Amino acid sequence: MIEIQPKKRLRGILTVPGDKSISHRGIFFGALADGVTRLEKFLFCADSRSTIGCFSELGVPVDIQEDTVLVHGRGLHGLRAPKNVLDVGNSGTTTRLLTGLLAGQPFTSVLDGDHSLRTRPMARVMNPLSQMGANIEAKDDNHCPLTIHGRNLHGISYTLPVASAQLKSALIFAGMFADSETVIRETHPSRNHTEQMLLHFGGKFRCENNVITISPQERFYAQELAVPGDISSAAFFLVAGCIVPDSELLIKGVGINPTRTGVLDVLAQMGADITLQNQTTAAEPSADLLVRSSSLRGCEISGALIPRLIDELPIIAVAAAFAEGTTVIKDAEELKHKESNRIHAVVTELSKAGVDITETDDGMIIRGGAVCGADFEAYDDHRIAMAMAVCALGAHGVSTISGEKCVGISYPSFFEDLRRISEEA
Ligand code: S3P
Repeated sequence: MIEIQPKKRLRGILTVPGDKSISHRGIFFGALADGVTRLEKFLFCADSRSTIGCFSELGVPVDIQEDTVLVHGRGLHGLRAPKNVLDVGNSGTTTRLLTGLLAGQPFTSVLDGDHSLRTRPMARVMNPLSQMGANIEAKDDNHCPLTIHGRNLHGISYTLPVASAQLKSALIFAGMFADSETVIRETHPSRNHTEQMLLHFGGKFRCENNVITISPQERFYAQELAVPGDISSAAFFLVAGCIVPDSELLIKGVGINPTRTGVLDVLAQMGADITLQNQTTAAEPSADLLVRSSSLRGCEISGALIPRLIDELPIIAVAAAFAEGTTVIKDAEELKHKESNRIHAVVTELSKAGVDITETDDGMIIRGGAVCGADFEAYDDHRIAMAMAVCALGAHGVSTISGEKCVGISYPSFFEDLRRISEEA
């Protein structure tokens, strides 16, 4: 358990850890490339270590040197049959992307993870993959452990029933090993890191009007790349900087891929004082984000915005609790299927702090007002732990957070960074 006192002000310069989605995908593409891929500013956390562990088991050596990983690629057809169960830990991204990749390999693999991972829905990936000819067994036809009997796959034309980059990416990886074209339609675009990295490693696909067409690939070439900071991690400090009075924080080198910047759009709409500096224009662009204390106002968040900020909704709900007026979050049913049921977790925890908040089927309604300290729980969910820690910084009175160690899933040094900017106050 950790105790958090409200803060008078936050000051300092921060570099948040590397982007989790990009770090995972760097290992995937590095493994399938010819040569040694070098990933700098890689995110070392429990989830990315799960991906590294799985690929080591698939015959891909990965060396770790400080904040860099070297992936000794085996080429497109070089993965080896695993001798042991592939341990995906808590990582939904590892599980779903690997399921797509392994469905078309000439061997059988078994994937399993922790208690929370075993509750995450996998039928969404299994259904289109079985249309492609895959043979996957799962507990209740939906949950891990998954046994994937690799098969020859054929291309399909498929409209994603949920806006999910994990599902889209699973189908892209499967499509690379199918014997004909795979066409994937998205209603609302989700993060496109898989597509960006596919191009970067020398692969090919077409994308027009949210329709992706992918064919078997010839060859991937090893790359050197630096992972930008994770905007999902930066979001906690953006909101902290807004809600704690007299604050000024500079968060350096944060990834601002437009498919991920919904949180910046929403905070701007809420009246946040956030400035972008030193923007780069790479395929995965980045910027330094300067945030100052702000008077926030409520807003509505729905539709195409949701996939662009899906992981930031818990911390956006915290911002809404400190805002004037009402915030309505809709079309976010997917939040129920994350590391915890995040709609229920956020509503339960913010209610403890005296926030006027209502749970709905696909989101929540938050009426901003006074927020008091409370004894928060983390639900074994890193983003709930960090969102409540930020809430505690701006609340009246002391708070505690139990189960806070789960921040190691995505941001092992979160509390250290928080202390540093608080001590500088
Ligand atoms: C991710 C996609 C999102 C996100 C997750 C990471 C990815 O999940 O919530 O944290 O790296 O592709 P969904 O694709 O299931 O929405």
